[in-house]
Amino acid sequence: MTTEPFDDAPDFEPDEISDRSLLTAQTRSAQIEAQLEVDPSQFRVLTGDRPTGRLHMGHYLATLRNRVRLQDLGVETMILVADYQVITDRDEIGSIADRVRDVVTDYLAVGIDPARSTVFAHSAVPALNQLMLPFLSLVTDSELRRNPTVKAEHDATGGRPMSGLLLTYPVHQAADILFCKANLVPVGKDQLPHLEQTRVVARRFNDRYAGGRQVFPSPDALLAESVNVLGVDGTKMSKSKGNTIDLAMTEDETAKQIKRAVTDSNRTITYDLDNRPEVASLLRMAATLSDRDPVAIADEIGDGGGGGLKRLVTEVVNEHLRPIRQRRRELEADPGYVASVLAEGNARANEIADATLAEVREAMGMVYSAS
Ligand code: TRP
Repeated sequence: MTTEPFDDAPDFEPDEISDRSLLTAQTRSAQIEAQLEVDPSQFRVLTGDRPTGRLHMGHYLATLRNRVRLQDLGVETMILVADYQVITDRDEIGSIADRVRDVVTDYLAVGIDPARSTVFAHSAVPALNQLMLPFLSLVTDSELRRNPTVKAEHDATGGRPMSGLLLTYPVHQAADILFCKANLVPVGKDQLPHLEQTRVVARRFNDRYAGGRQVFPSPDALLAESVNVLGVDGTKMSKSKGNTIDLAMTEDETAKQIKRAVTDSNRTITYDLDNRPEVASLLRMAATLSDRDPVAIADEIGDGGGGGLKRLVTEVVNEHLRPIRQRRRELEADPGYVASVLAEGNARANEIADATLAEVREAMGMVYSAS
């Protein structure tokens, strides 16, 4: 028997992340943003996605644009495709290679530059995965069971038993971040518990196995002021719900999808976040993509109703995505190039991971040489 895989970034807000830890992370993020402008070379960023196939406007506005921004600021950026995460919560996995290729194609299409950013799949980096063993010795099962994001992801599987991999996923994520000694991790707030667990692992490793030497830095979260948009059915944009606007869609497909968008019966368009969330989301999408103010766009549409709003949004989305889609088509026509970007990223990630694992073995007294 197979359960319906849940196909996208988890559709939940872990409610146990305290306001205080969120506030701390927000304050720290603001300080880091200021430092990023001054001296980007202090930072190594590691970010990643589970490979869900083609990426959509939700990904683009919440994370992809920000990654390109960081890369363009001159921050060293590592981008991880978390392919092992696909087996944390489902029975059927389909072709992971196809999905990974789609994700890498989208990265390149939006402007991730392989000369400046390293794109890799964590399954292709053995030494990264080997860090999981010492790291597992540094966490307790009750810590993992308390992790609100693990709990929420488990709840979203609709009654499947918790797999050992899902339970220990935060430790794997610590390996993802620490193998390259990243000190900055751009994430949404649902990932804050994993980052906290990563800091605990780094600290305990340094204390217990390295005599207090700082083998691993303590990474910070970078909470970007991310722009959240709803799917066309008015709920969170998510691949499994068929409510997405994909980067890879044609202009006609985009127009059809936006035509389906839920609005309301009030013909006068206003930007009212509390009372008209669906209309506000469409306005926000258009405003962000065209660098305008949502209120000004609402005024311009005036009494044009949902139809007028959708026409404008379709135009803005298609115009903004035109060069990205053009680039995407070129990349699709050159699968060898996309594969080579990943192969080179994997090779670079392996070099870094091998060096870190050597240091870990040294710190732990596990170096066995013949002479
Ligand atoms: N867990 C993340 C998600 O569900 C993906 C991910 C895996 C990640 N490893 C990471 C994100 C390391 C940041 C850093 O979206």
